[in-house]
Amino acid sequence: MIYVGIVGYGTIGSGVYEVLGTNKDYIAKRAGEEVAVKYICDLRDFPGDPAEKLITHDFNDIVNDPEVKVVVETMGGLHPAYEFVKKALESGKSVCSSNKELVAEYGAELLALAKSKNLNFLFEASVGGGIPIIRPLNQALTSDEIVEIRGILNGTTNYILTKMSKEGESFEEALKGAQDLGYAERNPEADVEGFDPCRKIAILTSLAYGKQVDFEDIHTEGITKISKEDIIYAGAMNAAIKLLGSSRLENGSVYAQVSPIMVDTDHPLYGVNDVYNAIFLRGESLGEVMFYGKGAGKLPTASAVAADVVDAIKHKGTNIITIWDKEKIKLGDFGEMTNTFFVRVPAGEKEKARELFDIRREINAPAIDGEFAFLTSAMKEKDFEEKAAKLNVISRIRTAF
Ligand code: HSE
Repeated sequence: MIYVGIVGYGTIGSGVYEVLGTNKDYIAKRAGEEVAVKYICDLRDFPGDPAEKLITHDFNDIVNDPEVKVVVETMGGLHPAYEFVKKALESGKSVCSSNKELVAEYGAELLALAKSKNLNFLFEASVGGGIPIIRPLNQALTSDEIVEIRGILNGTTNYILTKMSKEGESFEEALKGAQDLGYAERNPEADVEGFDPCRKIAILTSLAYGKQVDFEDIHTEGITKISKEDIIYAGAMNAAIKLLGSSRLENGSVYAQVSPIMVDTDHPLYGVNDVYNAIFLRGESLGEVMFYGKGAGKLPTASAVAADVVDAIKHKGTNIITIWDKEKIKLGDFGEMTNTFFVRVPAGEKEKARELFDIRREINAPAIDGEFAFLTSAMKEKDFEEKAAKLNVISRIRTAF
């Protein structure tokens, strides 16, 4: 019997308890041993909960118990999650975490600590919820240089954008729905302002290039400025607005960004709706691959954590090598990044916009008056900013077409 301690009994932690219980026999076969939860550490009490008797308020109960071999960290946030995970590894226990904030900030350090102790620090659920993406990057895609990662990495914002565009819900209504379904972060600003997908693209890019990408260095925009009118224009172009996290290797530099992007029906990310996430990777020899599944929510995310528990047990005494050095990658200057833009300006600025921009296409949305909307050809971010500053831009959204 292998004992597990869970730290944090919120949506994901309780999901892990449920998955380890419901799939007990299946997991025992896969892990080669029976797996049972011995402690659940949380500040709160859970009267009447099936796991009530396992609750402890003292993390030391877990670290001091030699029977506990694997710690599941599902508390989220940086502190005290970092201190707990470090202590667990130092006490000889492998750790499985769903905590993207922790992984983005301390991933390299915790991996090195796990390695030095012949243990494992696993974090499949930190990106893409239930989608396997960390393991493929670390194991299946190691023979090829990854030249592009582009993905819908946040379930909450994809749910909101889908509800706004397909069901006409307001931003607030859709956000409330995402919160009720357990998709959103405790502070949903992390979702809607793009901080959550920013951490996720930082993790994926760090793994792809084997060095630290600091999320603070990534240009990040959320979806709070997307209006009903933007969605109408997207519809007029047979496109959808998605919040994408992306990084690409260009002339030896890695460029990264998180921002809303319009994708048209030809793009593989167009049909990724609701809470679904998808990560699209391009390798030099491999070409393109896409990973798709539920990017948030209790059981999909918990199933990824539980699979890490199985992996940690299967690799007892062996460190699964993960290349992620603390040395930092200096990202390419965002101003030099090339993008194409959809732009709306007041109708009176039509001629000025035509003079300033190399306009690829003018866009009409019959329901909207008094505006001039267009698509630019590919241009550097800094050139766009310089020209856009000369107009009263109503909105601008990057496009993938
Ligand atoms: N709030 C996150 C999301 C949870 O909506 O994607 C999963 O990381």
